[in-house]
Amino acid sequence: MGNGGDGRGRAAGGKAWGGRFREPTDPAVERLNASIGFDIRLARHDVEGSIAHARMLGRRGIIPPADARAIERGLRQVAREVETGRFQPTVGDEDVHMAIERRLVELIGPAGKRLHTGRSRNDQVALDTRLYLREASGEIRAQVHALIRCLLTAAERHASVLMPAYTHLQPAQPVLFAHHLCAYGEMLARDLARLRDAAGRADEMALGSGACTGTTFPLDREAVRRALGFARLTRNSLDAVADRDFILEFEAAAAILMMHLSRLAEELILWSSREFGFVEFSDAVTTGSSMMPQKRNLDGAELVRGKAGRVFGRLLALLTTMKGLPLAYNKDLQEDKE
Ligand code: ARG
Repeated sequence: MGNGGDGRGRAAGGKAWGGRFREPTDPAVERLNASIGFDIRLARHDVEGSIAHARMLGRRGIIPPADARAIERGLRQVAREVETGRFQPTVGDEDVHMAIERRLVELIGPAGKRLHTGRSRNDQVALDTRLYLREASGEIRAQVHALIRCLLTAAERHASVLMPAYTHLQPAQPVLFAHHLCAYGEMLARDLARLRDAAGRADEMALGSGACTGTTFPLDREAVRRALGFARLTRNSLDAVADRDFILEFEAAAAILMMHLSRLAEELILWSSREFGFVEFSDAVTTGSSMMPQKRNLDGAELVRGKAGRVFGRLLALLTTMKGLPLAYNKDLQEDKE
């Protein structure tokens, strides 16, 4: 809990963990350590988790109910400030969890420190990331859904159009264009199922795991689970703070999805080339070239194809980050977010 913010002795730049530290953190270490530049995107989820935690602490009498109410009001205020850009964290805040707590204490005073009772940033970040991914995965699924509908609409609109089916990129047999489009529909339907499946396994509430072995405070994990709408509780605290399978599974599903989108993009590019000449795209979705006025480039599709690379890369990066980590939490895990 740090040294209670008593002014003097706020070593390590007044950090929550600075209690026994006498020297301030070296600025280079501070910069390397900081995730605030990217995990600020978890602010809404961090606040959501903290409100559920604070209410539970208050209801259980682990902290005074009046403090719990003040914490909730303060957190809502911090969330508004982050959203409107009025609260600008600094690199000294280290991460989103410490930034929000710092601002909370500024707003409501020492009661704000009670929020962290029975909790560690290790289970906090495990919770926040799951909340974030739940939302992101839902948004991506909605977009994949829209794309499937779009393919089906095009298939119906051109129900009688014929094209060559290829093997070895050589014309093989005639086929309906709609049949070709529906092939992508099948791929995307499997992608949807994979994303849903991964989200289902990620649907666990991690608070209560503490830093790694739980907490002696009599938390009501079930109440927090219900408040946050998770299906289950994580069962093993060491696993809960060290596990990033749920991100890997999401990334794996995302990588396969991007592979499919890249194949579709590649075909659109081929089809719109002069050599194939199957389709023509409007000015609105193509770009030209100053030196070669005959050109009509499908940059968007090329970028979809191109961006698949970075999504594959993220999967391999996190697998590599994870493979040598002993239990439980290690700071390497912070690399899971970018
Ligand atoms: N910013 C950290 C991360 O993303 C939060 C957890 C930090 N925990 C710790 N014990 N230093 O992983």
